[in-house]
Amino acid sequence: DDPNADPFAVAAEAAAKIAEITGVARHDVALTLGSGWGSAAELIGETTQTFPATEVPGFSAPALEGHGGTLRSVALPSGRRALVIGARTHFYEGHGVRRVVHSVRTAAAAGATTMILTNGAGGIKEHWTPGTPVLISDHINLTAASPLEGATFVDLTDLYSRRLRDLAHSIDPSFDEGVYVQFRGPQYETPAEVQMAKTIGGHLVGMSTALEAIAARQAGMEVLGMSLVTNLAAGIQQMPLSHEEVLEAGRAAEPVISALLAKIVGEL
Ligand code: 6GU
Repeated sequence: DDPNADPFAVAAEAAAKIAEITGVARHDVALTLGSGWGSAAELIGETTQTFPATEVPGFSAPALEGHGGTLRSVALPSGRRALVIGARTHFYEGHGVRRVVHSVRTAAAAGATTMILTNGAGGIKEHWTPGTPVLISDHINLTAASPLEGATFVDLTDLYSRRLRDLAHSIDPSFDEGVYVQFRGPQYETPAEVQMAKTIGGHLVGMSTALEAIAARQAGMEVLGMSLVTNLAAGIQQMPLSHEEVLEAGRAAEPVISALLAKIVGEL
């Protein structure tokens, strides 16, 4: 909460608290589960502890229905440990970018070297019907914000790991890839903004992930990003968008895409 506090020190405190609650000194992989991806938590392994994120320093109370607010420690069949983050702070909540990336920094401080970021997004490609999972190949950050402060010149070539995308393709060769465009939100884009996103090379629009991916790369983590297309973006589909529609598409696709994600995690 303290604007003068070092965000990495708060993340280290959070990781220490997670180690204390779970009795697990090191989590190897972290997953942030967005709209539609929540069931993956049960499918990747055995949950040993579930606890409210608010027990951990630096996490805010959940802002939104459909965005859980819990953390869990999961024992993977491989013997590795996953930290599942069901508590995402969005930039549009207005608490600042440090809050947005705190969970990623906490995961890194907890030992995670792989960060899996998932979300629900609007599709710009017309053939992406609601329920289509898409691998994020790259992003365009239109938030005008950055989690990096000062002269921190982080390289973002291959931010969304080619190696992990290849692994996902080996499990499902039909996986499409796309460039994710992060807008600040919380309003959905205008049709003109969607056209702009398309013109500059975007395929998916959303309100998360890019800022988190930058923080993950700064922390030296390997990043896998996946979007669930919950709807086509404004102007690509002619119907008005509703948050309820987005949540419903997430619920409908959840069993299939969560199983897919669990298979990927099993191969890490
Ligand atoms: Cl169309 N836009 C944004 N920014 N986020 C979304 C979305 C659209 N659909 C689901 N999430």
